[in-house]
Amino acid sequence: MTGGNNAGDFLRLLGNGKDFGLKHLNYTYQEGEGGIAAALALAEHFVDRDRVCVVLGDNIIEGNFRASAEAFARGREGARILLKQVPDPERFGVPMFRGKRIVGIEEKPGRPKSRYAVTGIYMYDARVFDVIRTLKPSGRGELEITDVNNWYIERGELGFEILRGWWTDAGTFEALHRAGNLVAKTGANKLDSARAKRIRRRIS
Ligand code: G1P
Repeated sequence: MTGGNNAGDFLRLLGNGKDFGLKHLNYTYQEGEGGIAAALALAEHFVDRDRVCVVLGDNIIEGNFRASAEAFARGREGARILLKQVPDPERFGVPMFRGKRIVGIEEKPGRPKSRYAVTGIYMYDARVFDVIRTLKPSGRGELEITDVNNWYIERGELGFEILRGWWTDAGTFEALHRAGNLVAKTGANKLDSARAKRIRRRIS
């Protein structure tokens, strides 16, 4: 899913997915700013009652979450989220814990009830699209992914894990700066040089 004025950049970067080891890529375009849940709704027809993993394009991670996604694909959880401890949880969705269980998530709370951020990596079963249809826009006028996650929490069906390695969003100038520094320091580009060269040529 893409949107805004720069959707073409994603096409240029990702192409048909071949350079990233993918067989095929589908694209869809979100008009306006309806929220993450509204963007996910656009993918319903190609998810086709399967399980689905959502990754926000401005979330950058050091490692990967393959093991977590595979466990979710095999398992019986209704949904799974990945968390990361951060110095500024008030900028994110923040989980509240009772013991080792998450009992709710608050979106950008004034007084965060934990030091964790809900990262922009979410996994859902096929019911997610029915859940999205029941949502009402939040105060900021968006269908919130946090409301989707709370639906699964209320039913005791949300699993979670702490993401390993660094994680950052890139949605503010400060965060974008941090993301650039982290990538420069640890080298997130694991593509072989021929692929990297092809991609650089496409986007330059
Ligand atoms: C969104 C989600 C938030 C999550 C964050 C992760 O925030 O609403 O719960 O913690 O992504 O990047 P937004 O980017 O819409 O402010």
